[in-house]
Amino acid sequence: MTGLLVRAATNEDVEGWLRLRLALWPHGEEAEFLDDIRRLLDDGRAFVAEEDERLVGFAEFSLRPYAEGCESSPVPYLEGWYVRPDARRRGYGRALVSAFESWAREHGFREVASDVLLENTESQQAHEALGFQEVERLVVYRKELTRE
Ligand SMILES: CC(C)(COP(=O)(O)OP(=O)(O)OC[C@H]1O[C@@H](n2cnc3c(N)ncnc32)[C@H](O)[C@@H]1OP(=O)(O)O)[C@@H](O)C(=O)NCCC(=O)NCCS
Repeated sequence: MTGLLVRAATNEDVEGWLRLRLALWPHGEEAEFLDDIRRLLDDGRAFVAEEDERLVGFAEFSLRPYAEGCESSPVPYLEGWYVRPDARRRGYGRALVSAFESWAREHGFREVASDVLLENTESQQAHEALGFQEVERLVVYRKELTRE
């Protein structure tokens, strides 16, 4: 897509990226997020979308040893993908995922993976529009351990 600025995240992006992270994950701790951001910057595993010199979106990924439905290991895994509401449906999300896929291809990977909460049907539709195929549905459990 022309005219969209998507690039690897840099040290200059920390503040704007932190704000976007807090918008996506409002219950997150700022100090922990800053640690995550520094680690992602060191590893080169994040892209940002910029419009009129402000950040409007980001994509972050990890290398997971196992990803449901995948045939290879490790797998580049989309861990965070966000575009500000006022910048949506204009191709930024697609451009961010495309940058992630290019990184994966250039590093010799042949598949990438992601997940979405069951209720997040918009993101499911966006994933499908970008060529992701649903491979599994999971229910995640937790059990508090009482003292014996
Ligand atoms: C998911 C998200 C990042 C998409 O960003 P975006 O900039 O709007 O995406 P794009 O404009 O590049 O759209 C990409 C494709 O997804 C489709 N799409 C995007 N939002 C959609 C929606 N709400 N409903 C249906 N399709 C949608 C678009 O039609 C487009 O396909 P097309 O190019 O074939 O038309 C954005 O909606 C968002 O930040 N959502 C809230 C956070 C979130 O759910 N993140 C993902 C967690 S897994």
